[in-house]
Amino acid sequence: MKPGHLSKQRRALVAAVLSAATAAASAAIRISIWPWKGDKPYPQGDPLPVDLSTLPEGKLLTLNWQDKPVWVLRRSAADLATLSKKTAIELTDAESKESVQPATCRNPHRSIRPEIFVAMGLCTHQGCIPYLSEGKGFICPCHASQYDLAGRVFDDGPAPANLVIPAYRFASDQQLVIGEDA
Ligand code: FES
Repeated sequence: MKPGHLSKQRRALVAAVLSAATAAASAAIRISIWPWKGDKPYPQGDPLPVDLSTLPEGKLLTLNWQDKPVWVLRRSAADLATLSKKTAIELTDAESKESVQPATCRNPHRSIRPEIFVAMGLCTHQGCIPYLSEGKGFICPCHASQYDLAGRVFDDGPAPANLVIPAYRFASDQQLVIGEDA
């Protein structure tokens, strides 16, 4: 074999080692986020302005922010009324003590303004994207975890915490900025 020339077997070995290292690195990133709960930091940075003036009640706006889906939902008075009927027995973390959110959103509706809900659109179990079941909440298609319209998880699924809420603030009545603290 010429010097500096790798044999076929060696090349296969190097490729296998590199592939294992890549898999380990991506697993480490995954483990660092999921399950997304406890004292993990809430997402911040990369300010994204959002115009709320054309967002009707009940419509879920999905935005791409930091390569992840972030949701904005304008909840109705009826939606808010259903939230207050949920009990701590049904919910895994009713007071959001083990969930990730800014302090301004640690309240029963998990938001700064009751009608506007902002959350990362990723299940706290393994990161699948839940869908909105109108008027009820969010359902994860992967292992059936369910969240109410405040992103509070029901305790009969595997997701361990409420949906993550990123930093956000209101720049004006109809202007939201995702990524910056209030
Ligand atoms: S990823 Fe949502 S329940 Fe498993």
